[in-house]
Amino acid sequence: MNPNIFNTLLENLNGNIDNLDFSNDTFFIKESRSKKIPSYILKQKSYEKTKKIIKSKWKSEKMLELFTNSCQLQENPTLDELTLTRSAISITFGLNLINKNVLIDDNIKGTCIKMLHPNNIIGKDEIEFEIKLKDSQELVNVDYHKITPFLDKYVELDILEVMYGNGYATNIVIQILIQKGIKVNNYVATDIIDYTTRKDLDLPNINFKFDKLDTIDAIEKYSETSNTLLIISPPPSLSVSTLKEMMENEYEFGYADFYACHEFIKSKKNSKNDNYIIIIGELGASDGTEGIYHYLMNNKEIKLIHENVVSKTSDIIFGAIIKSIYVFKLNNS
Ligand SMILES: C[S@@+](CC[C@H](N)C(=O)[O-])C[C@H]1O[C@@H](n2cnc3c(N)ncnc32)[C@H](O)[C@@H]1O
Repeated sequence: MNPNIFNTLLENLNGNIDNLDFSNDTFFIKESRSKKIPSYILKQKSYEKTKKIIKSKWKSEKMLELFTNSCQLQENPTLDELTLTRSAISITFGLNLINKNVLIDDNIKGTCIKMLHPNNIIGKDEIEFEIKLKDSQELVNVDYHKITPFLDKYVELDILEVMYGNGYATNIVIQILIQKGIKVNNYVATDIIDYTTRKDLDLPNINFKFDKLDTIDAIEKYSETSNTLLIISPPPSLSVSTLKEMMENEYEFGYADFYACHEFIKSKKNSKNDNYIIIIGELGASDGTEGIYHYLMNNKEIKLIHENVVSKTSDIIFGAIIKSIYVFKLNNS
């Protein structure tokens, strides 16, 4: 079965792109990408002890003092619907096309290597993939409209989502993933807060459950039964330079996204299956812990198979805000 699953929806995606020149405006993004996770967190000898201290700072009351979490008390996702729609479509590009057999114009066989120009936005810019032709081994650039994935073997996901919030974002994303040929079997949604606004995933054939857990407990309890860790809009967090500074303060210092990824990767060391980490957000700037971008991009145990910008906006203080999707595949799989 080879439905051309990418041709619907995409034409309606012109929307929230400001026509701004971002070239001089990316100081904070560049700065955040160069930051590292502090060595006192990563050091093997003190890893467990530090993890315990950081976890002890994760208190629901403190989290709700921050708008980046309390926004979940409203019945809206953190990102707008158009950005989430683009995100979902691009995630399916990553899962259904990259390193997979495809057909060009319904008759030429090839293997999809990568998306070209990951800064291009679906619905606005040209979207092309690099394809290695089966017969000649030649590399060619092909517009996505002309590419059909072989869906003889569906990608099957058992998803563990951390930082689920009110679930509005997830409901948009997962519905599109399924429409575009991704099979989702089991779905465990977790968050440190059980929001009164919570909307569960109500889709046929998906075994859904919500469990009120922080990201460390979520991985410990569910990583074995999941092959995909999903994070949408992890909250940005304060930076701290020393463990002492952290211990002396009652703030929460983030790192929830870091521990989710790090513990998930560790738990899959001996796995023989395909395992993924999928993240939607700006990573280290407007979303997530300082240092998370550098940590993920330089991690030898995972491979970034697909990356794509999904929205560009601008803030008077922070300059450009550029949200992307990232699909990482764990190396052992
Ligand atoms: C910006 S919201 C994103 C919610 C949702 N994914 C979305 O995109 O709309 C961040 C979420 O992370 C959760 N969170 C923050 N720190 C956490 C932690 N240490 N463990 C688990 N969840 C956490 C908050 O409760 C909040 O729901």
